[in-house]
Amino acid sequence: MALMGVTHHFPVHAEQRSVQQSSLSKWRSFCSQSKHVLYVTLIVGLTLLLSTIFLNEQLSMNSIMDRFAASFKTDGSSVKANHLCDLPRNSTNNPTSNSTGDETRVPCAKQIGEDLPRGMIVATTDLQMRSLYEEDERQVQKAMTKYLLAMAVGIKQKKVVDDIVQKFPLNKFTIMLFHYDGVVDQWQDLAWSNQSLHIVALHQTKWWYAKRFMHPDIVDQYDYIFLWDEDLGVENFHAERYLEIMKAEGLEISQPALDPNSAEVHHRITLRHPRLTAHKSIVTNSCPTGRKAVPCTGYVEVMAPVFSKAAWKCVWHMIQNDLVHGWGIDFKIGYCAQGLRSEKVGVIDAEYILHKGIPSLGGPHVNKTTPAENDPHSEEVMSEEVYDPRKEVRKKSSLELITFQRRWVKAARDDPNWEDPYKAYAEAEMYRGKGRG
Ligand SMILES: *[C@@H]1O[C@H](CO)[C@@H](O)[C@H](O)[C@H]1NC(C)=O
Ligand SMILES: *[C@@H]1O[C@H](CO)[C@@H](O)[C@H](O)[C@H]1NC(C)=O
Ligand SMILES: *[C@@H]1O[C@H](CO)[C@@H](O)[C@H](O)[C@H]1NC(C)=O
Ligand SMILES: *[C@@H]1O[C@H](CO)[C@@H](O)[C@H](O)[C@H]1NC(C)=O
Repeated sequence: MALMGVTHHFPVHAEQRSVQQSSLSKWRSFCSQSKHVLYVTLIVGLTLLLSTIFLNEQLSMNSIMDRFAASFKTDGSSVKANHLCDLPRNSTNNPTSNSTGDETRVPCAKQIGEDLPRGMIVATTDLQMRSLYEEDERQVQKAMTKYLLAMAVGIKQKKVVDDIVQKFPLNKFTIMLFHYDGVVDQWQDLAWSNQSLHIVALHQTKWWYAKRFMHPDIVDQYDYIFLWDEDLGVENFHAERYLEIMKAEGLEISQPALDPNSAEVHHRITLRHPRLTAHKSIVTNSCPTGRKAVPCTGYVEVMAPVFSKAAWKCVWHMIQNDLVHGWGIDFKIGYCAQGLRSEKVGVIDAEYILHKGIPSLGGPHVNKTTPAENDPHSEEVMSEEVYDPRKEVRKKSSLELITFQRRWVKAARDDPNWEDPYKAYAEAEMYRGKGRG
């Protein structure tokens, strides 16, 4: 389902006071209908998103973008990055482009600087809701929030999601929900719902949403970003204390430890140590002392990660547009640690969660009862007698993991300017993990 909405023109001419008054009251009654507020929010959000992405295309100086633009070429159909300008690079360094004008192209930042006066260039944005008129001030949060909680949610998990959001005070956190089942109205009775952002795109995953709606230039206001699944028990979790520990431990990427009663614990390192505040590595039979390979150290699962702003910027770039289940990211997350992954990536034991293991689209699983027919990748299996979306999602996730890893190997090989700080472990780490979350 695409985002829908109505357009509305807000009166701006100061000389037309009476017109403005009557329009204002229309506007008010218009706004009192929740659906309209929602649509306007979505439209404004989408407009901001598109314009920021557009601006970013032009402003982005860093070569990561260029590298990624090159790697977005997928089998058969090449996805072209629509850069309007480019960094001056030696054409031999850029095998995907055989245009001879490479060296003479204008650098992106310079061009935008020529088009607009410097003081008018707004390169980043925020998700802060704004008031439509002065009296409306009380309706929206005034102070800029510093933290973001983003979750892909379905109405079936309403109670669990409510419990989670209750743990994130609204004066500090922006709540952004991705409704993969298309249901938005039924959340409105919850106290925090009207102050939160609701985004709808049917049957999409957490990673799909995050790539589209959490561009670093859009979530630039947040120092820390929680990108969580919806099936988490938070009885023993306190968001602000968690962040205090994360800062104190110098972590750029973290996750709350998993209660041993959790439905699934995929890697021992995520398991809670009752006597610790946080840990960054484990020692077991397969992880002897001093072993610096993932997942003995530098590992968090993709189920409940928390990122610093800098780490998120890196991880966002690592998310592949077409690999929507996010498998494989966990094993590479340490590359975004902004330093040594054995020091900057960790599991926080003092504030911990219970993984309930409810299958949903938000994570890598899908409930049997959740229709996934719209998934174009599932089409060919629709005709089979026994159709199990969950199995199909698993199959696709596994294939995506292989694609992700192949792409990584190729990108690492093709980039002469990139050096692998964990080269010694690369082989061992490549096919060990299942990347599940
Ligand atoms: C949210 O807004 C809608 C529409 O204005 C309203 O019906 C609903 O009661 C509000 N919810 C809360 C919890 O205030
Ligand atoms: C471009 O190639 C020339 C000659 O091969 C080299 O000296 C120069 O450093 C290269 N520039 C970049 C940006 O790679
Ligand atoms: C790039 O090379 C291919 C094949 O060598 C050619 O068909 C294509 O026209 C070239 N593109 C440009 C922009 O020169
Ligand atoms: C999953 O599907 C079963 C029926 O097959 C249902 O009873 C259960 O409530 C569903 N779980 C969730 C979390 O939706």
